[in-house]
Amino acid sequence: EKGGYDYFMLKEIAEQPRAVADTLLGRIDATGRLTLDEVRIPDPVLREVQKIVIVACGTAFHAGMIAKYAIEHWTRVPCEVELASEFRYRDPILDRRTLVIAVSQSGETMDTLMALRHAREQGAKVLAVCNTNGSTIPRESDAVLYTRAGPEVAVASTKAFLTQLVACYLVALWFGQARGTQWGDEVTAVVRELADISAKVEQVLATMEPVRELARSLSDRGTVLFLGRHVGYPVALEGALKLKELAYMHAEGFAAGELKHGPIALVEAGVPVVVVVPSPRGRSVLHDKMVSNIQEIRARGARTIVIAEDGDEAVVPYADHVVRIPQTPVLLQPLVATVPLQVFACELATARGNDVDQPRNLAKSVTVE
Ligand code: M6R
Repeated sequence: EKGGYDYFMLKEIAEQPRAVADTLLGRIDATGRLTLDEVRIPDPVLREVQKIVIVACGTAFHAGMIAKYAIEHWTRVPCEVELASEFRYRDPILDRRTLVIAVSQSGETMDTLMALRHAREQGAKVLAVCNTNGSTIPRESDAVLYTRAGPEVAVASTKAFLTQLVACYLVALWFGQARGTQWGDEVTAVVRELADISAKVEQVLATMEPVRELARSLSDRGTVLFLGRHVGYPVALEGALKLKELAYMHAEGFAAGELKHGPIALVEAGVPVVVVVPSPRGRSVLHDKMVSNIQEIRARGARTIVIAEDGDEAVVPYADHVVRIPQTPVLLQPLVATVPLQVFACELATARGNDVDQPRNLAKSVTVE
């Protein structure tokens, strides 16, 4: 069943182009309109929503963090994202004008389930973004948008993550559409771009050999740091989570702007730092700030592994290794930038002799609180 791969994780990483394409299938029509009729929340209810709250755990939480950037930027509706395990214990402010989005691959994660129950008790509407048909979370929600990743067997979430992102982008666009948000050129471009994402993920997968080689060369390290800004920040957190759970290494993700507020003290000679660089096109101020961050850590001896768009030459003088990803609109970049981090963690863990499908101490779905 591993389809010729040594691990389910490798198979699932390779399946991402198809998973992404399937999750988009039939959900955007030829004119660029979102057709999410399956999400049974009537437009008048959507128009009343004053706040969106995303709850999730682990990798699904990282998808939620990225969704927040897209939702607020495209719809101008306030959006919070919170770890499901923290959410209900702090007495969150919810009412019938709050839309809660519960993101979960398995649909059985107890923390997320308890958070959504709490939200519904307070009168909020709950939309599940889920990969498992008929599981508990969608059954207990008001509506569901299924990701179509297919069964994910490896404990580490890969294809489910990419499809969660796609589903969240669709929800954000659909929400904007229902509320009559001005459809700027940027959003039109994003809708068009989504159709090309599957091919771009394929392109990234085809160029991963140097990343695997690099991962093997770092297998005896104690620490790997990850830096990102904007949507690259949750990507950095996701890269670090993958490395922790698979390679059992100390790995941490930081918002690059926070470096000078403490974490830069961790940077010493030889420490590998993976940097997710925003596109130099679009909001180029983010890109320029990131280039100075790379300079700063390099000056302190870090070994810089830079994930940057094709054609971004500004990073080259400060990069020990450059991993190229295709040019993609800023908010969609996580769909391509995450893939090298998955491959990196999988290869590094394998080089350390770990079972990447069944990492120690972890279960595929966490059904206890
Ligand atoms: O099934 P869920 O999406 O609700 O699971 C949430 C997390 O337990 C899950 O993403 C976990 O963090 C993964 N093992 C990460 O690879």
